[in-house]
Amino acid sequence: MEVVRLLDIRNLYVSIGDKQVLKDVNLRVGSGETHALFGPNGTGKTTLLNAIMGLPRYEVDSGSILFKGQDITRMSMDQRARLGIGMAFQRPPAIRGLKLKDLIKIINPGADGGRILKQMDFENFANRDVNRGFSGGEVKRSEMVQLLAQQPDFTMLDEPDSGVDLENIKLIGEAIDILTQKDTRPSARIKSGIIITHFGHILDYMKTDRAHVMLGGSVVCSGDPKEILEQIKANGYEGCVACMCPAK
Ligand SMILES: Nc1ncnc2c1ncn2[C@@H]1O[C@H](COP(=O)(O)OP(=O)(O)OP(=O)(O)O)[C@@H](O)[C@H]1O
Ligand SMILES: [Mg+2]
Repeated sequence: MEVVRLLDIRNLYVSIGDKQVLKDVNLRVGSGETHALFGPNGTGKTTLLNAIMGLPRYEVDSGSILFKGQDITRMSMDQRARLGIGMAFQRPPAIRGLKLKDLIKIINPGADGGRILKQMDFENFANRDVNRGFSGGEVKRSEMVQLLAQQPDFTMLDEPDSGVDLENIKLIGEAIDILTQKDTRPSARIKSGIIITHFGHILDYMKTDRAHVMLGGSVVCSGDPKEILEQIKANGYEGCVACMCPAK
């Protein structure tokens, strides 16, 4: 049986202004898989997710992004969202004048906002402006609430665990598993995801199939998440530089 590639990134080069950040990125995420992305500060992890989402200012110089077999490289951000791509941002903006409960309805009129807010222990924030005055950890839960409303086919999470206390890391990990259908038998899973994390603690609360290391704007290593994390903990990213593990 042919493995379905929900996301297929080929030889991608991306610039922000005159700075080339991504260099020859190749990455494939199959249906039903959740991948982790590791790498030091400033290596291009956020740039990669923003380029997949199609944020303005992220200029694709060459290469392509295929999603569900379609070339989305030149599509607008809203077209990509409609195709099923969703993202929790590393530092999302606050939206003055828009209550979280109203944003849930805008994202998906059919979503059960009450249930989602309860699931994320976030009922007290329903009537507050989105992210306005939220603490660092609260912003992360707000992002998860929005993703649970959207139910994207491909969920991208940019450090959903940064600044989050232990109890809420568990909640967020469980929400990611729901978004990526880990409650369904593997062969029936369609949805996929990718998570950027520095510490990996959240991976104890969610199922991750594969991990990648990014260095200098390229994916330099791919493999088992726990094994890669142990290597990074033991040898640092210098160990990755020395290692000849081929990227897949
Ligand atoms: N608007 C911009 N103008 C110029 N350079 C930028 C801009 N946005 C990002 N960069 C640069 O691109 C590089 C990659 O940034 P990116 O945010 O993708 O890193 P990251 O791997 O997500 O790091 P972190 O782990 O700190 O979040 C950095 O050197 C950053 O300074
Ligand atoms: Mg980042």
